[in-house]
Amino acid sequence: MRSLINILDLSVEEIDELIAVANDIIADPDKYAEACKRKKLATLFFEPSTRTRLSFEAAMLELGGSVLGFSEATSSSAAKGESVADTVRAVSCYADIIAMRHPKEGAPYVAAMNATVPVINAGDGGHNHPTQTLTDLLTIQREKGTLNNLTVGFCGDLKFGRTVHSLISALSRYTGIKVVLVSPEELKLPSYVKKDVLQQNNIPYVQTTSLEEVMPELDALYMTRVQRERFFNEEDYLRLKDSYILEPRKLENAKKDLIIMHPLPRVNEISVAVDKDPRAAYFKQVLNGKYIRMALIMKLLEEAKA
Ligand code: CP
Repeated sequence: MRSLINILDLSVEEIDELIAVANDIIADPDKYAEACKRKKLATLFFEPSTRTRLSFEAAMLELGGSVLGFSEATSSSAAKGESVADTVRAVSCYADIIAMRHPKEGAPYVAAMNATVPVINAGDGGHNHPTQTLTDLLTIQREKGTLNNLTVGFCGDLKFGRTVHSLISALSRYTGIKVVLVSPEELKLPSYVKKDVLQQNNIPYVQTTSLEEVMPELDALYMTRVQRERFFNEEDYLRLKDSYILEPRKLENAKKDLIIMHPLPRVNEISVAVDKDPRAAYFKQVLNGKYIRMALIMKLLEEAKA
């Protein structure tokens, strides 16, 4: 049974195909209105979410299917001590496909090992968020016209930001990618990502604490929130939370065709004044997330049938 746990579960060709299908859905949504008729998606969210859960649900509804699920662990039998394995065995009896978010790294993998329907990782702890990565790739492709030959800056919490880890992994398979890592010392990209992804794939990268210094080089800037929920103490979070606040004056030296991305939710890291800048792409990302999830649901259901 094919599931999606890590973005690297998909080949570059499969990702390009998903992007092509998403672009086709955007061009002609009516063509897909009954693509998943009588199919059910279960959204099992053990952690809060707005975009991921609702975009999965909107995606399935727009494909003519139905949705069921829960949005917090306390309203499921996990609160009584049920394991992830048993939960997904039960949900496999009711749904054709599962999207699951969990605070524990690896929980969606355990789910995929025990479910009898495809499982999609909708975010596991500080680890991976492959459907956000698909969303980000679709956005870059639509805004820049390519996924190759780009200098991409990642700014903020690069330690705990799972969307950063997944997107760097995905981009490392395209050609001519350069990565610029901007973070406080305490929130640097984990060394396993540097070693196993950037160095392994010969991706040129620099690390800095100064966003202003590198801004003129960037084709895409990926801002991230400092992940309060992953900190061990509040004092450190408060000290680091406003390390980077993107304001219009900081964009004065940026390229005219820069794209500014953010997986959202934002807290303080992008001033609302930046929303008016035509380079702001973060609300386009939100919409793109629905279309790429439509393409993914169709693909996994199709493969499950085979
Ligand atoms: N980008 C993202 O995962 O947002 P939510 O936490 O709102 O799902």
